Amino acid sequence: MTRVVKKKAPDGDHLRAPGPLPPPPPPPPPRGPAPPRPPRGPRPPGDPGCRHRLSRRGFLATSATGLAGTALAACSGAPDGAPEGGATGDPPTPASTTAAQTTPPPTRPTAPDDAAWAHVRDHFILEPGTAYMNNASLGMPPASVAAAVAAGYEALSREPIRAKHDLGDAIANRVTPRLAALLGADPGEIVLTRNATEALHAAAIGTRLEPGDEVLITSQEHPAGRRPWEYRETRHGVRVNTVFIPSPFESEAQVVDLVEAALTPATRALAFCHVTRGGHLYPVARLCSLARDRGIVSHVDGAQAVGMFPVDLHALGCDTYSASLHKWLLGPMGTGVYYVRAGARERVDSAFAHDATPGAPNYGPPGTAGLPLRAGLAASLDFTDALGIGNVAARTRHLSDLLKERLAALPGMTPLSGPDHATSCPGSTIFELDGVDAVEAVAILAERAKIHIDEHQRDGHNAIRISTHVYNTVAEIERVVEELDALRP
Ligand SMILES: Cc1ncc(COP(=O)(O)O)c(C=O)c1O
Repeated sequence: MTRVVKKKAPDGDHLRAPGPLPPPPPPPPPRGPAPPRPPRGPRPPGDPGCRHRLSRRGFLATSATGLAGTALAACSGAPDGAPEGGATGDPPTPASTTAAQTTPPPTRPTAPDDAAWAHVRDHFILEPGTAYMNNASLGMPPASVAAAVAAGYEALSREPIRAKHDLGDAIANRVTPRLAALLGADPGEIVLTRNATEALHAAAIGTRLEPGDEVLITSQEHPAGRRPWEYRETRHGVRVNTVFIPSPFESEAQVVDLVEAALTPATRALAFCHVTRGGHLYPVARLCSLARDRGIVSHVDGAQAVGMFPVDLHALGCDTYSASLHKWLLGPMGTGVYYVRAGARERVDSAFAHDATPGAPNYGPPGTAGLPLRAGLAASLDFTDALGIGNVAARTRHLSDLLKERLAALPGMTPLSGPDHATSCPGSTIFELDGVDAVEAVAILAERAKIHIDEHQRDGHNAIRISTHVYNTVAEIERVVEELDALRP
């Protein structure tokens, strides 16, 4: 097999710009005064005007349904009776606002094929002609999420104190309980974070360990799941052991046996991912049960799981679970969640509050948070709830099955994520293509075909990762396979 590995990518998932940034556009020509605007027509009876539409109650109502952009677009910044747009004219209406205004909420698809999901695609404002297949790095939020975040920031600019209060209410009432329900947890067991990495740090730092205690992680961990334990090793004298798990692994039993064999009498914590870096599903419940039977604390990294398929934390039985919400849940960038099982509070402390107690565990990162981002999660939850998380899994599985089938026709293609539904995740497809450098392929496809995929050049692999979500289509899958075929030597 010819393998040309030219460049090693930095470790960790990331988005890469397709090439150097284009030069900035020339400055606009100086503008004269704005032409007079035609007088506004009379307000419909009962319409209280824009200021009122962005009132406290109005903001809550709109942001709660993810349609906050509707209210914003209607107001466009001018008090009633005043000309809109000021001296430079109206600001352009953001595409997210227009789409959120004109696209009805998605109805629940009844089949996994393109025809049943065509109306769902209409909720995304991706540049026409671009195929986005890098959801495992960063999700592409629907227009309603972008509009809700914009509305939250706008409300903060108009009435900071009131908006801060309202956003906090929206998070407490419309985000935390619904997110907990989606994850099979109690609302008091979860806190919001900026991302999975922050949650993974909180879990590692908070775990009660003495110098000489051991932590077992697997060779499939993302740096975000590995580095917090290395921190504890360096600073606190904890020992970190890594068990090698082949990718692809043979069976769930193989994973359990390898992990079990690597536990020692000094192992106090076991930390592993839900979806491996090769796109496989670890047997989470079995590994957590193994840990529980030995009095070991279990920590799971669910960054590549939440939003892709149903996750039931109580059924999985882990002590902590950390996840991104800006990947598969299509939430605003900069959102994550940290779960600590209620029964694990005696073993996992707050990483931030020295005076926390099991009754007031204070697991959340302190300080000012991005409230508009967090409140925008209500729109992501609306979107996922409207579709049904089981349907999201079925749709992503449908697309990746098709992708795997098409890729199999390419000579020199070696799949890393296999077709077995029990051990492969529904959304990410990882494979090597003989003679094709993965890092170069990513750049070429972005440049030449406006197709965004990612590379997986690690663990000795020179692999490509294509992560498809509900909005992708059969035509896009055919396009990406054609483009990859053209890259083969
Ligand atoms: C398995 C895994 N864990 C953790 C992370 C880090 O997630 P975040 O960027 O939300 O911190 C990623 C990111 O790609 C990941 O794939």
